Amino acid sequence: MRLLTTRVLATGAATLTLCAPPGGALAAPLADGPTARTTGRVPKPRTLADLNTSMRGEAFAYASYRLFAAQARREGLRSTARLFDRTARVELAEHFREEAMLSRLARGDAANLRNAIAGESYEHRTMYPRFARQARADGDRAAAALFTEIARDEGGHLRRFRAALRFLQTGRGKVPAPAKVTPERVQAGPPKVRARRTMRNLDTAMHGEALAHAKYMWFAEHARNRAVARLFRGAAAMELREHFAGEARLYGLVRATRANLARAIAGERYESRTMYPRFARRAKAAGDAKAAARFRHNAADEAKHMRAFQRALRRLGRG
Ligand SMILES: [Fe+2]
Ligand SMILES: [Fe+2]
Ligand SMILES: [Fe+2]
Ligand SMILES: [Fe+2]
Repeated sequence: MRLLTTRVLATGAATLTLCAPPGGALAAPLADGPTARTTGRVPKPRTLADLNTSMRGEAFAYASYRLFAAQARREGLRSTARLFDRTARVELAEHFREEAMLSRLARGDAANLRNAIAGESYEHRTMYPRFARQARADGDRAAAALFTEIARDEGGHLRRFRAALRFLQTGRGKVPAPAKVTPERVQAGPPKVRARRTMRNLDTAMHGEALAHAKYMWFAEHARNRAVARLFRGAAAMELREHFAGEARLYGLVRATRANLARAIAGERYESRTMYPRFARRAKAAGDAKAAARFRHNAADEAKHMRAFQRALRRLGRG
């Protein structure tokens, strides 16, 4: 839903797309290697950057709607819960996947592991330690503790992905089993931090975690090695159910269903009226017809999502 600055470097034949930290999850260059499912030629750098931005938004919408669905169920609003779940599936299973295919996100197990290693390394060494220091300085002790704990988890992901890559490259050692996940329950409530900087960092971190979840599920789906698939799925579960959820709790992302609907409507409005139409125009101008068509298609879908959420909000108003 939120735009982040995206930096694109074109280096001769290979195009490196760096979705700039903050975020980090797409920070890895799209390495070469056997391509999984791809469609046509590689899009232009500007289009790739727009695809990265939209994948980040789609992954975040998916993760948020899952929590909004759980909240609607807690309030006994079964049809609104189903609407959030259904919409979440479209964001991940259609919008994210199609964009991942167009941007050639999956490149074979070794390249996917290198991509994951770059993202985890940034989060473990740079992003989360900085967020923890800043939260401590701003008096947000719970956030500082969470950022420190997540930094440690990302270090665990980093070690496991590195061991898996070593095994694929040399045959030495083995692909490790994923770490155990302890899901965090997210109740509706206000922010549990006070500094604006902590709120901003939580927002950045949530987008990174949602993206890491979606990306690792995609890598798992395309993995040739079953142990690598299992490792990606395990890491994906931790990104969503522990990291995203823990940050969402402190951020106060989940409120009463009325407020969640209003937030969802604003996000869908932005994507359908501003973001996707702009990306479609740019892709068309760059000659990336497939990406332009996908962006137009998504704009139409997001408009439908917006209207469905508006209807749900009106129904609640009458109830
Ligand atoms: Fe979407
Ligand atoms: Fe991670
Ligand atoms: Fe994470
Ligand atoms: Fe949507």
